[in-house]
Amino acid sequence: MKRTKIVHLLKSEHPVDRVLVKGWVRTRRDSKSLSFIEVNDGSCLRGLQIIADNTLNNYESIAKLSTGSAIAISGKLIESHGSGQKWEVVADKIDIISIAPETYPLQKKRHSDEFLRTIAHLRPRTNKYGAAFRIRSELSYAVHRFFRDRGFKYLHSPIITAADCEGAGELFRVTALALDNPPTKDGKIDYSMDFFGTEANLTVSGQLSAEMFALALGDVYTFGPTFRAENSHTSRHVAEFWMVEPEMAFCDLDGNMDLAEELVKNLTAFIIKECAEDLELFARFVDKNLMATLDNIASSEFIRLPYEAAMEILIKSGKKFEHEVAFGNDLQTEHERYLTEHHFKQPVIVYDYPKEIKPFYMRLNDDHKTVGAMDVLVPVIGEIVGGSQREERLDVLEGRMDEMGLSKDAYWWYLDSRRFGSVEHSGFGLGFERLLMLLTGIRNIRDVVPFPRTPNSIEF
Ligand code: 4AD
Ligand code: MG
Repeated sequence: MKRTKIVHLLKSEHPVDRVLVKGWVRTRRDSKSLSFIEVNDGSCLRGLQIIADNTLNNYESIAKLSTGSAIAISGKLIESHGSGQKWEVVADKIDIISIAPETYPLQKKRHSDEFLRTIAHLRPRTNKYGAAFRIRSELSYAVHRFFRDRGFKYLHSPIITAADCEGAGELFRVTALALDNPPTKDGKIDYSMDFFGTEANLTVSGQLSAEMFALALGDVYTFGPTFRAENSHTSRHVAEFWMVEPEMAFCDLDGNMDLAEELVKNLTAFIIKECAEDLELFARFVDKNLMATLDNIASSEFIRLPYEAAMEILIKSGKKFEHEVAFGNDLQTEHERYLTEHHFKQPVIVYDYPKEIKPFYMRLNDDHKTVGAMDVLVPVIGEIVGGSQREERLDVLEGRMDEMGLSKDAYWWYLDSRRFGSVEHSGFGLGFERLLMLLTGIRNIRDVVPFPRTPNSIEF
């Protein structure tokens, strides 16, 4: 007989004569002749109450079942009177698959997030992390659905690359050279002897590949892992994170902002609708304002304002910030949060940033001072999306690369796209983990990544 997942059983419309359920014991309580076992199989937040009576031949072992033990139950699905939900199972037979000893760390009490990070291999078994990672899974599906519904094609951009898209130099080197005795030439490591015959690293963004495909297939997106060796110990940065990166041909900055706003709203509405039970846990135990925040995001029109206007608001605010507010400086998280949380109290898109603080590929505006960049800012998190209209004019792009000391030879293929049928195009990167933080109210990015990678931390 095939096992039925608890999520499906709980949606049953009729009693069922014979079901097979498999899962892990969460709690057990015994009366004189009965044992009530709450079993969870991870398919949903709720568990299923199992009633075992003392006529079962292994009742003695059943009445000793410990938290975390795995069992298989065959029995009848009947309407429940006492368990607080519609259905329960009266067992005909319970097979004990394995017993978890008392050393099982997840005994029934609340554990701190810090402690659970030290047992990242077990934490998805808790209610909170189970819910977080079910939402992560649903959100991935929603990303693909969003783009497919709008005719975007999904591109697998390479993970190993020779390019440094953001030009920030926060790269993880990929090499097959023996690090204790690398080949050298003129006193330097000779990467021509390396696997690819040149230096290579893990990608920081799939954008450059996505641009090539947008200029072939029209609208495309990448959705995959990206890597940054930035040594920032914040609650918003990890070394390995996932990014959703759409790229659209024949699209300017306004169209780009429209898509970013639509995407964030659509994904938020999807999770409100499809993950109601898991979200409720976060709204009860993690962030009491969560549902109001999410409704606000799903329904409000995002404010749009140029960098210069954002700076004026910050300067006029009279607030003392840790990082100085001055024209030409980048917006720090504290500034972003001030704008979206305190000033506007809703999501904000800031655009047209000074060219000096942005990468080479962003389109130079007519003022020759700013570029067509845009960042989406949301409460608590700050920047969740970063994107731009791309520089499609070959001469301007080459000029920018010269200014920034980038090798045009290394980017010959990128420049080719501006030689042959160049068109205006735009795209952005949505930080998948940052969106998950927003949707769950979880404040530390380490807690929305299954096995987070941060400085000095790669145990699991
Ligand atoms: O603003 P970023 O650096 O933009 C790019 O990489 C562009 N090439 C994207 C594009 O236009 N296709 O990163 C985009 C988003 C940020 O807004 C943030 O949400 C997330 O990626 N992000 C991080 N998330 C977690 N940990 C980190 N270290 C992150 N760095 C960026
Ligand atoms: Mg950015």
